[in-house]
Amino acid sequence: MSAALDLIALMHRVRADLAQDHRFAHCLRVSRLASRLAHRHGADAHAARLAGLLHDLARLYDGPRLLRECAERGLAIGPFERGNPIVLHAPLGAALARERFGVADHAVLSAIAKHTVAAPNMSRLDQILYLADGLEPGRDFAGRAALEALAFDDLGAAMDATLRASLAYLRARNLKAAPATLAALQSFKRRERRPLPA
Ligand SMILES: [Fe+2]
Ligand SMILES: [Fe+2]
Repeated sequence: MSAALDLIALMHRVRADLAQDHRFAHCLRVSRLASRLAHRHGADAHAARLAGLLHDLARLYDGPRLLRECAERGLAIGPFERGNPIVLHAPLGAALARERFGVADHAVLSAIAKHTVAAPNMSRLDQILYLADGLEPGRDFAGRAALEALAFDDLGAAMDATLRASLAYLRARNLKAAPATLAALQSFKRRERRPLPA
């Protein structure tokens, strides 16, 4: 089967698995933007497209199901995850991508696992999926288009700005940020502050 037909077959399977057109349309937009960002930054565009398509496989599960399915697989559940089980759809989504779709590429699974709360020391593909998920054109918030443009220009600067925007959003609603998100921001700040080579 050709790569194009493989991709179409995969799209049909993802659509059936998600069982919601709205979520599938989001996954297609994330996949497309991730692929474009990968092309721009010399990353693996196929891996980016795949990560985008599969990143939200567990997004529609309710809290008890997320907690149960993560516990069954021995996935880490800290105090933040216990209070905000929705964030578990990312690591569980990576497990489902492997179990149901046979994804063995660790880089793709890592990007899926980190797409919601981010993490320190993210790979280029991790950053591309995080940004594509947060900045895809179906998202509606002030400054989205500018952040998308920045992501094409400079991944690290876009991560720093998008993480800060996400923290401001949480703060305005009196919501707590995940420890991993705060650690991610520190790691990108440090990178930004690194002196330029002579
Ligand atoms: Fe998600
Ligand atoms: Fe998403």
